[in-house]
Amino acid sequence: MIIILLGPPGAGKGTQAARIMAEHGLVQLSTGDMLRAAVAAGTEVGKKAKEFMNSGKLVTDEIVIGIIADRIEEDDCKQGFLLDGFPRTVAQAEALDALLKEKDLKVDAVVEMKVDDESLVDRITGRYTCAECNQGYHDTNLKPQKAGVCDSCGSTNFTRRADDNRETVVSRLATYHTQTAPLLPFYSKQGVLRTVDGMADIDDVAVQINDVLNKL
Ligand code: AP5
Ligand code: MG
Ligand code: ZN
Repeated sequence: MIIILLGPPGAGKGTQAARIMAEHGLVQLSTGDMLRAAVAAGTEVGKKAKEFMNSGKLVTDEIVIGIIADRIEEDDCKQGFLLDGFPRTVAQAEALDALLKEKDLKVDAVVEMKVDDESLVDRITGRYTCAECNQGYHDTNLKPQKAGVCDSCGSTNFTRRADDNRETVVSRLATYHTQTAPLLPFYSKQGVLRTVDGMADIDDVAVQINDVLNKL
């Protein structure tokens, strides 16, 4: 199964991807996570990507298409994969279709997570993650059971993303509306677009996405 999670920054793509991975055994391919790892490691790709990411702009199509083209060749992608944050432009979507066609594959479903812009700013500015295991949290929506201690691994180290400030979020949202939203008609034409209400509770959104996946 090849699934795309499509939605604006803070829509809940990463949150839901973690659940889908656990339930459906699909590997999550997050270009944002891969790029952040490259920035942290100081690779050539990371050096090129850093400024775009910190200003809320898209990294070039060439870079991200290259990353995905390599990644889907790995063994853990043989049973399918879940794309989180890719594609983000029509050029990326066309490149993905071409890569899949070579393997006689196609996108099975694109799950659009619809959330109001006003809620996204709150979600993103309140977000933090465990520095050890990457489990995601939120200042008000999703707190660890014991304050300051990760539920999954017990760590007390947490981090916030460099691009999770109000100013960059506004720029990321504008980028979504101009460059990524055109993917909605693109996938609608292919008959694979499914829309879920991303404003619902995290558990409710998971139920809606499971409904979509179980019907495939
Ligand atoms: P990326 O890492 O993909 O960031 P993004 O798209 O901006 O999305 P986020 O990760 O911020 O949000 P999310 O939807 O995963 O939300 P989450 O589940 O964490 O990209 C970062 C940058 O990398 C880009 O700006 C760009 O520069 C570059 N990049 C990446 N891919 C690229 C590509 N393909 N092409 C070019 N450049 C690329 O949830 C957010 C918060 O809300 C959490 O705290 C969570 O707990 C909470 N929450 C989640 N769901 C709910 C809910 N239902 N109700 C209440 N709270 C919720
Ligand atoms: Mg994410
Ligand atoms: Zn942890």
